[in-house]
Amino acid sequence: MRIIRTIAEVRDAVRDAKGQGKTIGLVPTMGAFHAGHLSLMKQASANNDLVVVSLFVNPIQFGANEDLSSYPRDELRDAQLAEQSGVDILFAPEPAEIYPDGFATTIHIGGITDVLDGASRGAHHFDGVATVVAKLFGIVAPDVAYFGQKDAQQVLVVRRLVRDLNLDVRIEACPIVREADGLAMSSRNVYLDADARAQATALNRALDAAQTLAETGERDADALTAAARTILTAAGITPEYLELRDAETLQPVTRLDGEGLLAVAARVGAARLIDNHILRSA
Ligand code: PAJ
Repeated sequence: MRIIRTIAEVRDAVRDAKGQGKTIGLVPTMGAFHAGHLSLMKQASANNDLVVVSLFVNPIQFGANEDLSSYPRDELRDAQLAEQSGVDILFAPEPAEIYPDGFATTIHIGGITDVLDGASRGAHHFDGVATVVAKLFGIVAPDVAYFGQKDAQQVLVVRRLVRDLNLDVRIEACPIVREADGLAMSSRNVYLDADARAQATALNRALDAAQTLAETGERDADALTAAARTILTAAGITPEYLELRDAETLQPVTRLDGEGLLAVAARVGAARLIDNHILRSA
């Protein structure tokens, strides 16, 4: 596996590979790899000839009061894990390579970024995600890019970006990888002390309770979210949001009809965690 720091070198490597008829898979990440990240890399590796993983803690998607400076960073460990997962190129640029002096473009996607994490973290968050992902697509020109369903709204934002700007990339969403007790894997789980780690299991248990209720035929959005809220409350968690929305448009729904995204965000100990389940009415 090669570790590359410059855009020019990534472009050269991709051009060579494409010249040999190879397909290119891209996995955008911010590092601090866990099994969720590695599942995307393995999927990319199984389906492409050349796999590029970007490792870049994107400053513009963090708010002023968020964890940019403390975000976990361990490139040596990440490089080993990526290599073991079939990655060919780890693209780990310095911030100035991505945002040189004079950088002045922001991509804002309307509508779907106004709710859930967009409302909770502020518009800058998905502007920052869309801008860096568009740049990565421009730099790597992948055939396929892999994203985790853990960040369900991010998947929708990236799909909209691709559609609205006619980008020639196929987006593949991969399932949420969880710890044995159901906690969704996240680079931010390292912020949890033992008590908070135990408390954090309530997020998935809450979503599970709503899913079980949906499977018994409950369609009322308030009843479904109430089932989840009861579990959170019992665990001492007050969510930033807990909402059932249309899984494609993110419009609010009062009744589950087809696929609904039940999404939650909460502060647990020192971490801000998110999780979601897709609920189905049929
Ligand atoms: P990061 O949080 O590092 O996540 C990189 C990719 O891993 C994302 O697509 C995310 O959804 C996926 N992922 C994280 N936890 C997962 C889990 N438990 N199961 C499955 N997939 C999981 O998301 C970002 O970085 C950034 O916003 C980025 C897209 C790189 C833009 O900066």
